[in-house]
Amino acid sequence: MSDHNLFRGSIYHCVEAAGNIRPVYISDGLMVVDRESGRVVEVGDYSTLSLKWDISDSLIHFEDRLMMPGFVDTHVHYPQYKVIASYGTNLLEWLNKYTFLEEQKFSNEDYADQIANLFLDELIKNGTTSAMTFCATYKQSVDAFFRASEKRGLRMAAGKVMMDRNAPEGLCDNPEESYRDSKELIEKWHNKARLRYAVTPRFAPTSSSAQLKQAARLLNEYPSDENNKGVLLQTHLNENDEEIAWVSDLFPESKNYFGVYEDHGIAGNRSVFGHCIHNTEAEYQRMAQTESKVSLCPTSNLFLGSGLFELEKLESYGIDVSLASDVGGGDSFSMFKVMNEAYKICRLNDFNLDPVRAFYMTTLGAAKVLDMNDSIGNFEVNKEADFIVIDLNATEIISQKNKIAVDINDILFNLMTLGDDRLIDEVYVLGQRAYKK
Ligand code: GUN
Ligand code: ZN
Repeated sequence: MSDHNLFRGSIYHCVEAAGNIRPVYISDGLMVVDRESGRVVEVGDYSTLSLKWDISDSLIHFEDRLMMPGFVDTHVHYPQYKVIASYGTNLLEWLNKYTFLEEQKFSNEDYADQIANLFLDELIKNGTTSAMTFCATYKQSVDAFFRASEKRGLRMAAGKVMMDRNAPEGLCDNPEESYRDSKELIEKWHNKARLRYAVTPRFAPTSSSAQLKQAARLLNEYPSDENNKGVLLQTHLNENDEEIAWVSDLFPESKNYFGVYEDHGIAGNRSVFGHCIHNTEAEYQRMAQTESKVSLCPTSNLFLGSGLFELEKLESYGIDVSLASDVGGGDSFSMFKVMNEAYKICRLNDFNLDPVRAFYMTTLGAAKVLDMNDSIGNFEVNKEADFIVIDLNATEIISQKNKIAVDINDILFNLMTLGDDRLIDEVYVLGQRAYKK
């Protein structure tokens, strides 16, 4: 038996050089994966590569299927698995009425284990093979998530929520404890297998100034160098008007909301800010200058009625932007649905989100936001072969629309507009099958 697995089918991914995104579509392609490492060895036309590789052995042929990199969801909350679809509130009411109650259940490690597994099943079923997730305040909620991810061999980032005020007492920590617990979790999980730690101050209203400084201390203690990836940081920014007014009351000495994070030393190229809907011009400017990263969460913004982001503006400032589900504020695990709602929000701003850009923001661009684009996001040689197999005839209407598609752009647009988990036929993690519909 050879040392490689061979996959034949249509292939779509994109490559990026000097800031330019180039879509690559191969109508009848072959992907060669090293069986032991699970990495891509070669991708190209079947007609050419089938002369070079022994296709009598270990060839899997996906007919009428499209292979693409697995989706990367850069902002999601696994403890909110059951908060999804909670009725009738805006952000701050929703946090108090539903979210903070549910998150308290994650002090129970058995419950955390159970939900972590359900959550990962749902991600995989939707074709999402990597994510950066918020956990709950409790250390055991993070252990549960990393344990479940490691068992499945997934590339994931996650962290313990730091939150020391304006939330139920049972859900709060304090600055020293949050530093100590986060550090213990970093030592235990960061850069183990395919896992990365993300320092996770929830958002400015639930952290004191002292706690935000502890978050900065952790970010500084675990920098990136030539041998190691540093820890990441995730939080929320400019999601809701009331939240923004509250932040300016809580931190009167900072110029604006992003300024609160910058003043406390947690802006920068390893920091990922969710939402950024209501940014001021000054905030876009400082985000660009600090190389801070963005997760846009269209399904969540519409579900909670938070507002319409301005993708055009973020792009004009050259900020790295990705798309994310923000479950349970977001009402779907499907990145197709996320792209669909992103497209509509852009339309409301009289701007077109083209499908190549949309798929970039859920694959390679998302991997870049998480500083993982050296290992995932497309099918360049030596990348980890996490990929999805899309059934181009999964529903009658998609099948009919794909038959009249002129080019791959049309097909991608059909998928992002009409698609959901029914399209995901199979999912591979490191070249091994992890899911079959
Ligand atoms: N802001 C602070 N916490 C949260 C959360 O859990 N979800 C969303 N969407 N926004 C937040
Ligand atoms: Zn969120």
